[in-house]
Amino acid sequence: MTRPIIIDTDPGIDDAVAIFMALASPDLEVLGLTTVYGNAKIEVTTSNALALLEIAGRSDIPVARGASRPIASDYLGPADFVHGEHGLGQRKVADPKTSPIKDDAAEFIYTSALASPGKVTLVPIGPLTNLATALQRHPDLPELIDEVVIMGGNALVPGNATPTAEANINNDPEAADLVFGADWAVTMVGLDVTHDIIMDHACMGRVTGTGTAQAQLLDGALSFYREFVEQVAGIEGIFMHDPATIAYVLNPELFTTVASPVRVETESFSRGKTWPLLRPTDMAPEAWQGRPNINICTEVNAVEVMNLIEELLVG
Ligand code: RIB
Ligand code: CA
Repeated sequence: MTRPIIIDTDPGIDDAVAIFMALASPDLEVLGLTTVYGNAKIEVTTSNALALLEIAGRSDIPVARGASRPIASDYLGPADFVHGEHGLGQRKVADPKTSPIKDDAAEFIYTSALASPGKVTLVPIGPLTNLATALQRHPDLPELIDEVVIMGGNALVPGNATPTAEANINNDPEAADLVFGADWAVTMVGLDVTHDIIMDHACMGRVTGTGTAQAQLLDGALSFYREFVEQVAGIEGIFMHDPATIAYVLNPELFTTVASPVRVETESFSRGKTWPLLRPTDMAPEAWQGRPNINICTEVNAVEVMNLIEELLVG
C-alpha cells in the first residue's frame, strides 16, 4: 500500500534530492508537486519542479504553481548564494517542455485532500505560504489531511538564515504560525536534526556516479551546494535538510520526537524563531494556550537516515 504525498517545494538543491528520493520510493505515491518562492523566485522554482520531473521521467505528475511572496510581508529574495541563480546550482537546467496545471498550489492541495479524505500527507520543504493560504481558503482542510511533515524550524538550536531563524520559517513566519496552530498532525523536521544528517564526499560520489539523468543533475548541483555549506558550516559534506522529511515519512522510528505546542516569533530580530512550550500545558503562558501539540524531531539516527537516502538515490 503506497502512501500518497504532496511535496510543497522551492527547488532548490536539497529539494531536488528529496524529490528524487520520493520518486524512487516504492512506498510513496507523489500526487503532485506544489511550488513556492524561497530558494529562488516562483517562476524559477516552478520551472525547476517541472524540469526535475522531466529528468526523472515522471511528467505524469502534476505541478501546481503557488505563492510568489509571503502572506504578510515582502519576499526576502532568492538564496542564490546557496542554490545558484537558477536554483539548482550554477548550470541552468533545460527549460521544461511541460507546464503547471490550471489550479494553484492551495487549490491542488485542497482538491487532492477532498478526493482522498484523511489519506494525503503534505510534505512542505519550503516557506509555508501555500499551506497557510490553503488553510485560509478552506478551514476544513486539516480534517482531510493525514499528516504534515515539515522541513523547517529550530526548537533548541540556532537558526541558519539568521542567528534565531531557519530559512523556510524565516521566509514566512506568519504562515508558519498559522500552520503550527491548525488542528492537524504536524511533525517538525528542523535544524535540531537536519544539521546532523550530512552527505559526505564519498556518498556524493556514489550518488552522482550512477550515470542516470538524475545523477547528472545532482553532480553539478551538489558540488555548488557543497562549496557554500563547507565554507559557512566548516563541515566536509552537505546538509540533508529536505531529504530528512522523506526519510521521516518512510521511517519515523529513525527520529526521536517530543510533543509540544509551538509558536513562531513574528517580531523584531528573533522573527522566524520557532518557540516550543516544553512544559506542562497547564503552565502555558497565554501565547501557547489552546495551541495543538506539534511532533518536534529532537534527535536522529543520522547514519541510518543517510543509508536510506543513498539506497533510494543509488538503488
Ligand atoms: O533551512 C533549509 C531549508 O531552506 C531547505 O528547505 C532549503 O531548501 C531551504 O529552502
Ligand atoms: Ca527547500
